[in-house]
Formats: sequence, C-alpha cells, structure tokens
Amino acid sequence: MVNQSKAWVQLKKYFNDIEPQSIASFFGDKNRTDTFSLSLSSLYLDFSKNKIDSTTVALLVKLAEQQSLKTKIDELLLGENVNHSENRPALHTALRVSPTSENSSSIDRQSEIETQLKKMGAIVNKIRVGQWRGATGKKITDVVNIGVGGSDLGPLMVVHALQNTVSPVELHFISSIDGTQFAKLLKQLNQETTLFIIASKSFTTIDTLANSETVLQWLKEKIHNTSAIYSQHFIGVSANKKMMAKWGLSKSNQLLIWDWVGGRYSMWSSIGLSIALKIGMDGFREFLVGANKMDIHFATEPFKQNIPVMMALINIWNINFLNINKKAILPYDARLKYLPAYLSQLVMESNGKQVNHSGETVNYKTCPILWGEVGPNAQHAFFQLLHQGTQKVMCDFIAIIDRDDFDTDSKGTKEVSLKKQHDLALANCFAQSRVLMMGDDAIPDKLKEKFNSPFKHYPGEQPSNTILLDSISPKNMGMLIALYEHITFVESVIWEINPFDQWGVELGKLIAQETYQAIQGTNHDFDASTESLINKVKR
Ligand code: F6P
Repeated sequence: MVNQSKAWVQLKKYFNDIEPQSIASFFGDKNRTDTFSLSLSSLYLDFSKNKIDSTTVALLVKLAEQQSLKTKIDELLLGENVNHSENRPALHTALRVSPTSENSSSIDRQSEIETQLKKMGAIVNKIRVGQWRGATGKKITDVVNIGVGGSDLGPLMVVHALQNTVSPVELHFISSIDGTQFAKLLKQLNQETTLFIIASKSFTTIDTLANSETVLQWLKEKIHNTSAIYSQHFIGVSANKKMMAKWGLSKSNQLLIWDWVGGRYSMWSSIGLSIALKIGMDGFREFLVGANKMDIHFATEPFKQNIPVMMALINIWNINFLNINKKAILPYDARLKYLPAYLSQLVMESNGKQVNHSGETVNYKTCPILWGEVGPNAQHAFFQLLHQGTQKVMCDFIAIIDRDDFDTDSKGTKEVSLKKQHDLALANCFAQSRVLMMGDDAIPDKLKEKFNSPFKHYPGEQPSNTILLDSISPKNMGMLIALYEHITFVESVIWEINPFDQWGVELGKLIAQETYQAIQGTNHDFDASTESLINKVKR
C-alpha cells in the first residue's frame, strides 16, 4: 500500500521535522507567496497558508511520480477503462473538447457528443425564442429540472452562480423525494407554460421518477390532451433510451448521455440543459471552453505548476500527514451558494472509499468530510469551531475580484452599486484566512490587553487555500469546476482507489424498497428499532 512506499515514508519523516514550526514562521521567506501561488488565465491560487515548504512540495511531487500520476492522467484523458469496478472509462473531459484525435473510436465519440450538443442547442433556442409552445399554445415561461445527485447539484449550482444572466425562461429545480420542493413550486407555476426536464442518467432513480409521476398528474389536472403533455411539457435526459421511451418520451424529446459519463461529472453533457436554457447555447459552449482550458493545463503542466495536482497534493499532506480530515469550502459570494453541496457529492461520492483497486481495505485515511457555506454566513455560524474548536479543518476560500452587476429598479435601470459590499466581503475573506493561520499573533498590539483571556485565545494553525476568480462567468465556472474534478482524481491516484464508482449508495436504495412495502403493511422482519419506527408511521 502507498503508506509503505518510499515517498510516503520520506514525507512522514519530513513531517516530524517540520511539525513544530508555525505556518506563519515560513513567511520569513519574503518570496513565499510567489513560490506558493499559481495562476491560470483568470484563476489565481494562493496556497502559501499551508504548513509546507519547498522540501514538502518536492517530496509530494515525488509521491505523485511514484504513483505514476502522469500515466494515470493520460489514461483518464485517453479514455482507458479507469473505472475498474465497472470496466469503463470516465470521459467527462471528452465532453468539453472539439474533435482532434486521429483515433477512430474517439472521432465517433466526438461526433456523437456534437450531435447531442446540436440537438440540445436546437431545443434551447426553440424554448428561449418562444417557439416551443405548451399543449394549449402558450409560450414556455418556466422550466423545472427534475433530477437528483449529479443530475441536479451541478446544474443547480451553475444556474444559481450565473443568476445575473438575463434569461427568457425561469429555471427551477426539484430533487428531493419527499415532495416538499414541488408542493411549494407547483403552487406558483402554471401547467400551460411550464416544461419539465427529467434528468436521470439511469432513468431508474425512484426519487426522480416519483417526482415526475406526480408532476404528470399535476399537468393532467389542467391539460386534457395527454399526448401533448408528453410532447410539449417533458424532455428526458438519460443514457437509458429504453426507459425514456417506456416513460412516454418520443425520440425528439430525448437527449442522450453515455455510460462513460459519471453522474457527478455529467453537467457538461445534456444534463446541463438547464444551464444552457439559463445562459444560452453560446454561454454553455463557453462553459465547456473554460473546463477544457483547465483540462489542458492539467494534462500538460509539470506537477509543480499544475494547479489541480498541487491542490490535491496539499490535501494529501494535510489529511495523511497533518491528520486533518475535514475540509470547509467557503465561497465569499452568495452566487456560489450551492458550490459546497455540489462539491460534497463530487468529492465524497468519488473518494469516500475504504478499499483500494485490489479490494484490500486501506490502512490510511482517504476522503475528508467536506462541507461548507457562503463564507460571510458561515462566519456567523460554524467559524467558532474553526477558530477555537478542537478539530483541525483545512479551508478553501473562494472569492471574486470584480463584480460589475448592480441592483436594478423595476425598469432594469442600474441603480445601487454593490462595490462597497463586495469589498467588505473580500476584506472578511482575507481577514479570516489570516486569523485562522496566525491565531493570537494576528491580534494588533493595541488590542492585546483586551484579548488576554483563555476564552479569547486563538490557536491558529488552520491551513487554507485562497482561490480568486476575476468574475463569475461561464468560462470561469467551467475552469473552477474542472479544477475540483481533477483534484479529486489526483487524490484517488495517490490513495489507489477508484473515484468513479459509488457502490456505497446502492444497498440503502434497495433496502428502502423493502421498507416502503413494510410501511404499506406487508410482513417484514427488521431490527427492533426499525420495526418500532415503521409501526409509528404504518398506513
Ligand atoms: O444514488 C447516487 C446516484 O447514483 C448518483 O451517483 C447520481 O448522480 C444520482 O444517484 C442520480 O442518478 P441518476 O442520474 O441515474 O438519476
């Protein structure tokens, strides 16, 4: 296992040497921030607030080389069967590239991707210009994406992030099986002017199918032409043509994805239909271009200059050597509100694993617990734990350099500048990462007296990265998301685990079916606790 390897043992040894030093003490080196920062186009990463020095980085790079990271990256990008347990490639990167390869299977694949993108583009344009009419001839004003996990979180996050783009249709999302979201939403919507996207790679996910069935009944309450409901109010996106057809969707209302796109990596495919409806097809193509830019950087830059590789290696250092197994994602712009939820699926569903490729249980930590919140809100909530709790947490701060949008009045006139608020948010972002690193040493001399109490002690030493983006744009969102996808992949290579399957979620789904039958009254034989819970809700 990797933790017996030469590079790992060297890192362990070096950790013992470096451990007593504070992060702040490394800033004696005046070039530190230059040394430990990287940029790609409009994305800048400062990773200098970590307990690292040049030797740490060199040893981490050795670890990556020892794990044949370059070969593994090539295998991923070339479409080898990197998802070993399901014997298939994980080719989300192919979704954002124009056809270049000489290899015929890849040319076929690229042309299939282009075909679906064109079909998606035609649908998007028809809806956005008001040519796609509901069953009673009215224009579509609202589109609801019904999907869960990878068929929801990515599109929801990006649509929310790009909320300032004016769109002719309003986008909504329904994911949860419990019905609350659509009960609320359907009260606001009009059957005649609402279109639903059923987004499900498998088209067997009970959550999505149950929500779609309920929506179908809701449409039928007002629209009596059932075949027009199917043709004018539903579009399916899936890898399962058969199930889409069985559900009642004709070919023209189907968009296809492929087995080789993982659910949580699928927003670059037609699963991103809601994104394209929000920002238009040109905007969606820009989003793909941004991701492709990060892919090229990932594929070609030497490890020390490679942003995803360096961020992943720093995570490994923090998790496996500093023993920090929690990660907070802290965007300082509420347009990125759903980024932490999206990343919690991407990272934890990918790397929340305990067996390696050979099926052996690993004896080292893998995926951290990842959560987060819009930074300024989190400051008034769980930052107490970050500053004074007993747990070490590594943080990714994400901030936007410029925001040129303004609050508008009802006529769309630019009125209130958000500049002051934006600068306040930036100031808070930078202040927090500084205090997390320096602790008491950040207290200005004149306030030292005031903070002289054990209750006002700040231990500091919480490592963090800060990512700055010029602005929130389709291209920048593409780069940012692809960055985290690649970080996740690199970590999996170091830990020798498969990031592309998710067997851990299957058993619960299966048992839920049996439990549902039990709630409806069929015989069952569960543990006493579950029996008693079922008895309390039995129909
Ligand atoms: O249950 C987990 C999962 O399979 C995720 O991996 C996936 O993103 C989500 O469910 C939704 O799956 P589907 O797109 O097939 O409905």
